[in-house]
Amino acid sequence: MPWLGREIFGPIRWPEADAREGFETEVKQRSLMVTHHPAKCLAQVVIVLSAALTGLSAMAQADEARAKKIVSGVCFVCHGAEGESSSEVFPRLAGQHWEYTAKQLSNFKTGKRKSTAMADMVAKLTPDEMVALGKYFEKQAVVVEPAKDQGLAAVGQYIFHNGNKFSSLAACASCHGADAKGTAALPRLAGQYAEYTAAQLQQFNKRERTNDNAVMHAIVSKMTPLEIAAVAEYLSGK
Ligand code: HEC
Ligand code: HEC
Repeated sequence: MPWLGREIFGPIRWPEADAREGFETEVKQRSLMVTHHPAKCLAQVVIVLSAALTGLSAMAQADEARAKKIVSGVCFVCHGAEGESSSEVFPRLAGQHWEYTAKQLSNFKTGKRKSTAMADMVAKLTPDEMVALGKYFEKQAVVVEPAKDQGLAAVGQYIFHNGNKFSSLAACASCHGADAKGTAALPRLAGQYAEYTAAQLQQFNKRERTNDNAVMHAIVSKMTPLEIAAVAEYLSGK
């Protein structure tokens, strides 16, 4: 509104009295708004907010540095410095949802999820460190290599997206997502090593994966060895 500036900074001729009345009211309201929200007050709010944000980001940086230190001190031997993992038997952790990772670490510590390899690794971790580790791995770039056996992966692709109506096997995609990227409560499966995925499916089947296996046990108990191998192969290249 260009005339607003002219009224404030210099005299203005206004032809219609009623329009001028409305105009004056508007100027009054605006000046009231200005007195009620002084720049000083706004500046204070900005300072408080930015201090809070700086504090938060400093904490996040400290957490990330702590996680990095733990990973480069211990975890990297098996899971790689960036969660890419050094071998098919060690799960890839890069890109995994932090909530899921933190939960598994906590379950390894309490013994709810039994694993001889992981029990010692988590013994000294605090809940904060578990969250920091989860966030560290979630941020890392996902490495995906093409599936080695494309024919087998094609069978797996069908099962993953459609399940098997002849054995009432549910489609994996219905929970883990069509892209297999999961959610905070459901693990990401895309890009995982086939050997690890197949091993976990076998563990769910035998209830050797001791934490939260009810859903996955019901699923895998309907799978044939071919379906297990095929789905694992498909996911490795997804
Ligand atoms: C000596 C090798 C080794 C080291 C070192 C190691 N891990 Fe593991 N990790 C494993 C194995 C093997 C498994 C699979 C366990 C199973 O059989 O279920 C695993 C599983 C996991 C899982 C579960 C992944 C999933 O998809 O469910 C997480 C999370 C994990 N490790 C994090 C860590 C962290 C964090 C560290 C460092 C503090 C670490 N690991 C150190 C071998 C290792
Ligand atoms: C009804 C929902 C549901 C369906 C359908 C489902 N899953 Fe799962 N799956 C889960 C849940 C929940 C977990 C996490 C268990 C936990 O928190 O420990 C899981 C975990 C897994 C894991 C462990 C991942 C890891 O990193 O260790 C694998 C592997 C897996 N599912 C594969 C599959 C495959 C393959 C299919 C299809 C044949 C399938 N799931 C179908 C709910 C489902």
